[in-house]
Amino acid sequence: MTLHLWLRAESKPGEERAPVTPAGAKRLRDAGVRLTVERSTGRIFADADYAACGAAIVETGAWAAAPKDAVILGIKELPADTAPLVHRHVYFAHAFKEQKGWRELLGRFAQGGGTLFDLEYLKRDDGRRVAAFGYWAGYVGAAVGVLAVAHQRAGTPGALGAVRPWPSRERLIEACKAALGDQPAPTSIVLGAKGRSGSGAATLLGALGAPVTSWDLEETRAGGPFDAILTHELFVNAVLVMGAMKPFVTREQIVNAGARRRLRVIADVSCDPHSPYNPVPLYEDTTTMEQPTVRAVGGRGDVAPLDVVAIDHLPSLLPRESSEDFAEQLLPHLLELAQGSAVWRGAEQVFRDKLAQR
Ligand SMILES: NC(=O)c1ccc[n+]([C@@H]2O[C@H](COP(=O)([O-])OP(=O)(O)OC[C@H]3O[C@@H](n4cnc5c(N)ncnc54)[C@H](O)[C@@H]3O)[C@@H](O)[C@H]2O)c1
Repeated sequence: MTLHLWLRAESKPGEERAPVTPAGAKRLRDAGVRLTVERSTGRIFADADYAACGAAIVETGAWAAAPKDAVILGIKELPADTAPLVHRHVYFAHAFKEQKGWRELLGRFAQGGGTLFDLEYLKRDDGRRVAAFGYWAGYVGAAVGVLAVAHQRAGTPGALGAVRPWPSRERLIEACKAALGDQPAPTSIVLGAKGRSGSGAATLLGALGAPVTSWDLEETRAGGPFDAILTHELFVNAVLVMGAMKPFVTREQIVNAGARRRLRVIADVSCDPHSPYNPVPLYEDTTTMEQPTVRAVGGRGDVAPLDVVAIDHLPSLLPRESSEDFAEQLLPHLLELAQGSAVWRGAEQVFRDKLAQR
């Protein structure tokens, strides 16, 4: 049977990413897949580019009335609603770790008989995800960290101002260079340097000429806190935490270091302030594009400031590159969706298990 993919318009404000690009649309069409694309003024790729690649263009939000065999594809949450969900949906639902509203969402699937294939749970046999945004999260997270360092160095009153999606990585690098002016890029340390996010962070910092210390599991085996982190101006945390661990830094350690501390900004790409295992236990909540930093320590008296960047949707700040990369990783699996494959069966099983626990 012909696979019918339906790319919905994102409803989350500021979300410009897409899981299929116009170039991908052409490859899907060439493989016999039918693609419908909802109009979107927010998406990084123009509707006309999808149309030129053979996609049918329909109104925003039309997916709810799509033919039942269509597979509805998106990036972020569905619009808030209570209607039963009858389709197969592919997107990041943020529901299987029992996040806010998970029961209600799964209830809608149960009522409508639909299926949720969560993009976070499309995995190979070795447990690695088939498609992830991590590289660009690290790249952008490090860049916002550099902007925050430059802002502190300039001594401008108030916190770093809002950041908005950059149209390309070149423009992002230009923005960092402009903020640094004739000052050198910050000495930096990246933890989780061998992973996707960590390598993205190291690449951005390298492009700015920053001296980078790269650590992964081997260097942290002894367990934190690590005074070596405090000797860098910028710390990018990009580790994937799997369970209980000692923190990499603590408030007490930072305050006691006094003037020996060079650390001014932490770009916490891993960004899990609500987890009991958070290795950067210095802040209470995520930050936003509107207010990218939170002051974790100091800034009063003679205690030097320490700011944390903790944006949990960093790749949205570089929507073109992150979409192109993600879509390229996902495409071979979309082509297998009609026949099913271990990747899709695995994701469906996670959904069925969670549905049963609801
Ligand atoms: N903020 C965002 O927008 C955003 C976006 C995507 C991913 N993330 C998060 O970034 C984190 C990393 O994701 P990824 O895709 O790069 O994962 P990854 O699995 O590719 O890389 C993680 C790396 O961390 C290393 N690591 C694990 N424990 C460590 C420890 N104790 N000390 C040192 N290194 C350690 C691993 O060896 C690995 O190299 C995840 O928590 C993910 O949820 C955040």
